[in-house]
Amino acid sequence: MCGIVGYVGPRDCSDVLVSALTKLEYRGYDSAGIAVFENGKIEVAKTKGRLSDLVDKMKKEGKPQGHAGIGHTRWATHGEPSDINSHPHSGRRVTIVHNGIIENYKDIKKFLIENDRTEFLSDTDTEVVAQLLDFYYDGNPIRCIRKVLHEIRGSFALGIVFADRPETVYAVRCESPLIVGQGKGEAFIASDVPAIIKYTKDYYLLEYGEIAVLKNGSVSFCDLHGRMVEKELKTADFDEDSAEKGGYEHFMIKEIHEQPTAVKTTITPRIENGMPDLSECGITPEILRSFNNIFIVACGTAMHAGMVGKYVIEKLARVSVTVDIASEFRYRDPLIGENDLVIIISQSGETADSKAVLNLVKQTKAKSLAIVNVKGSSIAREADMVIYTHAGPEIAVASTKAYMVQLSVMYLLAFEMAYAKGKITEFECRNLTEQLVKTPEYIEKAIELEYNCQYISTKLITADSLLYIGRGLDYALSMEGSLKLKEISYIHSESYAAGELKHGTISLITEGMPVIAVATQNSLLEKTVSNIKEVKARGAMTIVICDEFAEIDDDAVDFLIRIPKISEVLMPMIATVPMQLLAYYTSVNKGNDVDKPRNLAKSVTVE
Ligand code: M6R
Repeated sequence: MCGIVGYVGPRDCSDVLVSALTKLEYRGYDSAGIAVFENGKIEVAKTKGRLSDLVDKMKKEGKPQGHAGIGHTRWATHGEPSDINSHPHSGRRVTIVHNGIIENYKDIKKFLIENDRTEFLSDTDTEVVAQLLDFYYDGNPIRCIRKVLHEIRGSFALGIVFADRPETVYAVRCESPLIVGQGKGEAFIASDVPAIIKYTKDYYLLEYGEIAVLKNGSVSFCDLHGRMVEKELKTADFDEDSAEKGGYEHFMIKEIHEQPTAVKTTITPRIENGMPDLSECGITPEILRSFNNIFIVACGTAMHAGMVGKYVIEKLARVSVTVDIASEFRYRDPLIGENDLVIIISQSGETADSKAVLNLVKQTKAKSLAIVNVKGSSIAREADMVIYTHAGPEIAVASTKAYMVQLSVMYLLAFEMAYAKGKITEFECRNLTEQLVKTPEYIEKAIELEYNCQYISTKLITADSLLYIGRGLDYALSMEGSLKLKEISYIHSESYAAGELKHGTISLITEGMPVIAVATQNSLLEKTVSNIKEVKARGAMTIVICDEFAEIDDDAVDFLIRIPKISEVLMPMIATVPMQLLAYYTSVNKGNDVDKPRNLAKSVTVE
C-alpha cells in the first residue's frame, strides 16, 4: 500500500521521482506527490488522482527543479483521497512521504496539541509524524529520527527531508518494505526494486529500524542506536524489460503470457534426475516426513493457490491440510502442534496479515515455510524455510503468473512429500514430475485460446452477477476464477461447489445468468455435467471449461472452452488460463483500468 521513492544525484530529480513512481503505482494510485530541494528550499507538488494528474499539474504550474527529493503514490488509509491528504506532508522544517500506518497517531497528535503544535492541515497519520519529527528536531536529523522511532507504533517506511539539510534524503523502515539503490554517483530509495531498475540493479535491503542517509550520491546506514552499519549490496536478477509492458496493452495480459516461462524458471532448479528436490530450500525428505498436520495460510489469490495445494497434498501425501485466510487465522487461536507445518504463501512477501501469522507461528514450536515471489521480502526472511517462486516482478494488481507459480510449487511439494512418506512409488513420482515439466507447453496452448475467451467475454459484460461452479480441484480453481473476474470487471460473482448449489444458491439463477462451470476432473465429470444441466434447465447461460476429450452433452453448454488434457491432478494449471483471459477481456470490454482496479492496491501492508 503506497509507494515511496527518493533520489539524490545529478539527474533531474522530479523526472527521476516521477519515473520511479510510475513503477510503484500498482501499490496505490489515488494521489501522488513529490518534494524536491530547489535552490536549497523544499518545493512540493502534489495532487489527488493518478500520477498522470501530477505530471499534468507540473506541466501547467512548473515542476520543482533540483537534484534531491522524495515522492509518493498513495492508497488512502487515513483521510479520503484529496489534494490536502496527498503526500508529501510537512512540519515546519521537515517533509516526509510514508508507506504504512501509524497506529498511535491519535495519542501523538494529542501530545503535540498539548505542546502547542496545532497546525494540522490533513486527516493523515503521516502529517502527525512530520510534526513530531519537527517537534524533536534540534539540528541533528539522525537523533531526531531515532527519537521519533521510539515513539511511533505501526508498520511504516518513511522518506524524509530536512529543510536545513539540502541535497540529503533520509529513510527509515519498520515493517513496510524499503530498498536503497546505489548507482554511479547517485542513490535512490524505493518501496520496491522495479522502481529504480532503469537506473541501477544494485540495492541494499533496509532492515527493521535501520536509517539510511543519501548524500553526495552515496549512502550510509545506521541502526536504531545510531551505530554505523555495513550492509551487503545485492543485485536484482531481472532487468528493466521485466518491469515494462513490452508491447502488450496491459501488464496483466503480458503477465498471462509470461506464465510458461515463469513455471519453467520456478520448477527447473527444483527437479533432479526427474524427481522433485527441494533441498536447495532447506527441505529434505526427513523434514517432509516429520509433519502431522499442515496449515496453509494466505490472502486472496495466494490463499486460492493454497486451496489447490490442500487437495493435492491430501490426495497424494495423505496429510491433513487446513487452508485459512490469514486475517482469520491470526485471531482464531488456532491449534498448532509442535510437529505441524505452517505454509505461508505470498507474492509480495509483505502482506500484513500473512506476516502477522508468521509472527504467531514463531511463538509455537511448529515450522514455517514461506512460498514467496519477492526476494528478500519480510516473510521470506523471517520464515524457517523459503521456496522462492521465480515469476519476476508482477505489476498488475490482479495476480496471474504469481498464482501459476504458486501452484507449481504446491505440486512439487506434494509430490516430494508423497514420495518421502511412501504414499506414492518412485515410478508414480517420476511420472507426475514429468507431467509437471510439460505444463509450460500446455499453458502455452491454453493461452492460444485468447481469441475464443475474448469473444465469450463479450457475453459477460452486461451481467450483474454470475456463478463459477466446479467439484474438487475444479471448485478450488473456480474460487480464483471468480476473484479474478470480480476484482477487475466489477461484476459480482461467487464460486460454488457444484454439488452444493441445490442447497440454496440455485435460487439465484435467472434467465441468461452466466454460469462458468469448470469440469476438468474426469472422475467427477458426470456429476458436474448433471449440475450444469440443472442450472441450464433454469435459464443459465453456461460456459464450460473442460479438457479436449471430455464428453459433454451439447444441450448442457452454450459456450465451450476446451483446454489441453494433462494428468487430472495438474489440470488447474491449464484451466486457470481461460479464466484469467475471460476476466481480462471482460474488464477490457467494459473499459476498466485493468492493471489498476478501483479501490485496490497490489501489496496490502495494512491490516
Ligand atoms: O502479496 P500477496 O500474495 O500476499 O497478496 C495477497 C492478496 O492481496 C492478492 O493475492 C490479491 O488477492 C490479488 N489482488 C489478487 O489478484
